[in-house]
Amino acid sequence: MASPPTKSSPAAIVLAAGRSTRMKSDVPKVIHDVLGEPMVGLVVDVARAAGADPVVVVVGPGEHGERIRATLQRRAEAAGVPAPRFAVQTNACGTADAFASAAAELEGFEGTALVLNGDVPLMRPETLARILDGHAGADAFATVLTFEPVSAAGYGRIVRGPEGSVVAIVEDKNIDRPEVRRIGEVNAGIYGFTLPEAFERAAAVGPDPVTGEHYLTSLIADAVTRDRPVVGVRAGRTDEVDGVNDRADLARVSATARDRVIARLQAEGVTVVDPATTWIDHRVTIGRDTTIHPFTVISGPTTIGVGCQVGPFSHVRIGTVLEDGAQVGNFVEMKKTRLGAGSKAKHLSYLGDGDIGSGANIGAGTVFANWDGQDKHETRIGDRAFVGSGTIIVAPGEVAAGARTGAGALLKRGSSVPAGETWVGVPARPIRKK
Ligand code: UD1
Ligand code: CA
Repeated sequence: MASPPTKSSPAAIVLAAGRSTRMKSDVPKVIHDVLGEPMVGLVVDVARAAGADPVVVVVGPGEHGERIRATLQRRAEAAGVPAPRFAVQTNACGTADAFASAAAELEGFEGTALVLNGDVPLMRPETLARILDGHAGADAFATVLTFEPVSAAGYGRIVRGPEGSVVAIVEDKNIDRPEVRRIGEVNAGIYGFTLPEAFERAAAVGPDPVTGEHYLTSLIADAVTRDRPVVGVRAGRTDEVDGVNDRADLARVSATARDRVIARLQAEGVTVVDPATTWIDHRVTIGRDTTIHPFTVISGPTTIGVGCQVGPFSHVRIGTVLEDGAQVGNFVEMKKTRLGAGSKAKHLSYLGDGDIGSGANIGAGTVFANWDGQDKHETRIGDRAFVGSGTIIVAPGEVAAGARTGAGALLKRGSSVPAGETWVGVPARPIRKK
């Protein structure tokens, strides 16, 4: 049994049950990838990082919810952290109803809940901490995160009263006055709410007369009429509150995530020659004085050492380790492979499930044929080995320390080139020494 939540840690409710109409997708919007991570996974992570426990994700019924649940459970397992809890919203009739659907999962919880839209994936924990502080400081009923986007279209507008306090949120589809349309400050879709009071109010929200939806944002004007404090917290940076409703938003948010990772690497001493054509995901670590050349994609978990050269046009994938001074060049794909210190694979290669020692040279066009249609097998290349251009190694296979293969050699499955020997031909055999 989980211990009962203490009052000091906030709960988090992630709204993820929407229909994703604008995405035009058979896959629920919130599990579309942003830099290799499902959006809603990033939202759960940031809630956790802000200290939220428990975290409840509201999903749709049937396959919709099952897919989100399976994605988040798999991810939690891989990271060795507990999966979030789930609540089901039976009919996606609006965010107030989605929020209220989490009530049963948080039965008995008294305190603050962070409420996060599952389609706003780049939020930072520092900003959630500001929401929690603002909320606690004012003993508020609701705290709303706001920002001023370049275009407010599509967002709920923040209406402030004469004293500057937030008095209402008017949804884009409900705007009937030009002065409201002109308001530049909008609702980010991230809130602090006091429970269980907010559950009671959300359950009482009726359908909007224009759209028929039950808006969570109606709780703001409702709180004002009840004389309950509402706080507006302005987001310092607009990139973290960017929401994803359609595919164009997805590309823009992914680019922002990419820029953030690259900025961090640059601050750590990595040269990224052309950030705009370089995609490196969150789970990649890179040592200082390494240069990443244009058109390179690196996905993690991957570790790249100090003083390496990667790209242009390299694809470095899960489980790769480049030791210090290693070089990977044009049209080289690597997966689950170690490239030892100072080793080079500079052109046109596939290196999968390999272990390559230090000071080795992998010639142009080398292929580790790691997959026999049923299983993956390993290729081992020793220190200072020289693999000639166009060598194909049908794994499992080995080229021992200091051994060589000639151009175009084909190493049959299970071959092992002993230390100091050179093998050539198809199938490859030891070359006779003169
Ligand atoms: C919402 C806000 C808007 C805000 C914007 C910020 C409301 C009514 N409006 O608008 O003020 O400016 O976010 O991005 O809240 N969802 C459910 N069940 C539903 C409907 C939605 O779980 O029945 C979930 C969606 O999966 C999504 C989130 O709630 O993650 C927001 O829904 P969405 O339809 O995208 O709201 P917006 O129109 O963007
Ligand atoms: Ca949205």
